[in-house]
Amino acid sequence: MQAACDDHGIELRPHIKTHKMVPVARMQLEAGARGLTCAKIGEAEAMLPSGVRSLFIAHSLVDPAQGRRLAALAEQLDDLRVAVTSEVHVDALARVAQASGRALSVMMAIDSGLGREGVRSAAAAERTASALTKYPQLRLSGFYTHEGFFYGLPPAEQTAKARVLLDHLIAVRNAVDSKLPLWPGCSVTAKLLTSMAPGVVQAVRPGSYVFGDLSLCATTGIMERNEVALHVLATVVDKPEPGLALIDAGSKTFSSDKTAEGVSALAADGRDIKVVRVNEEHGYLRGSEVDALKIGERLVLIPAHVCTVVNLTDRVVVTSGSQVTDTWNVDARGRVQ
Ligand SMILES: Cc1ncc(COP(=O)(O)O)c(C=O)c1O
Repeated sequence: MQAACDDHGIELRPHIKTHKMVPVARMQLEAGARGLTCAKIGEAEAMLPSGVRSLFIAHSLVDPAQGRRLAALAEQLDDLRVAVTSEVHVDALARVAQASGRALSVMMAIDSGLGREGVRSAAAAERTASALTKYPQLRLSGFYTHEGFFYGLPPAEQTAKARVLLDHLIAVRNAVDSKLPLWPGCSVTAKLLTSMAPGVVQAVRPGSYVFGDLSLCATTGIMERNEVALHVLATVVDKPEPGLALIDAGSKTFSSDKTAEGVSALAADGRDIKVVRVNEEHGYLRGSEVDALKIGERLVLIPAHVCTVVNLTDRVVVTSGSQVTDTWNVDARGRVQ
């Protein structure tokens, strides 16, 4: 990812929500990432030991009680940016800025089809920008979007949809100020956008690319299963009937997130074994190779959605081949505020 960005002179500002680990953030920065993206102030605080100097908190901050933490964070950085996510969000953000006692650089969210945060039109962007001018402590510094709906698009449709995405972002941005930077780019689109839009896109903010998961291997074809770096090691604990085995990992390991086919995880070695249902501490295995499993056998599984899996564990074990080389704490685990 860093090489793709470097090739086209685009900044990489990875979202740390996927790994939440200082050693991984450090590696991203050492490889050349220009800064980090976080969803929450707590995540940002947890990443400070990585040596990060530039951070973007891509969420709707509304609580003035967070002002002091924001100020403390800003003091330890060269560049802290926050998000304004709609016209009605402006006043609430201004109260947070006032409580922080600082001027804040603000990135305006543009909804590009996900239907979550972000201005819905060029007119809404103009109104939001004009509402910001009421508050001298809020300085509009650019635009961002999270185009998460690309996870449902096969490779053949991605380039055309990326063109539509870019045209939309440019039109909305130009309605406000054509000189302000654009920061789109999730794990599905980031490489495509770097090649399509040098000079248009300033930065991309992918998250889950860092480890990969079944979502990135499915419809989008962004990754192959053998490229996924994070696995769940689970143990077969029972075989209560033919065609069914149970493992000691359920929704408290995989979360409730599943692939579009309803699968929580798949065997990483390619055997036809899938986690088709989860209770809190049980996973239900089905597939043609389930009956050959033995009780006590360890299974290496690729999860459907890596970000929620990492957030459910205290530590990850780092391996190289069959050797354990390290153990890393999930530093920002549970830092949801
Ligand atoms: C605001 C924002 N930026 C970036 C990302 C990273 O997306 P991905 O993990 O698909 O690369 C997300 C993911 O949810 C997000 O919400």
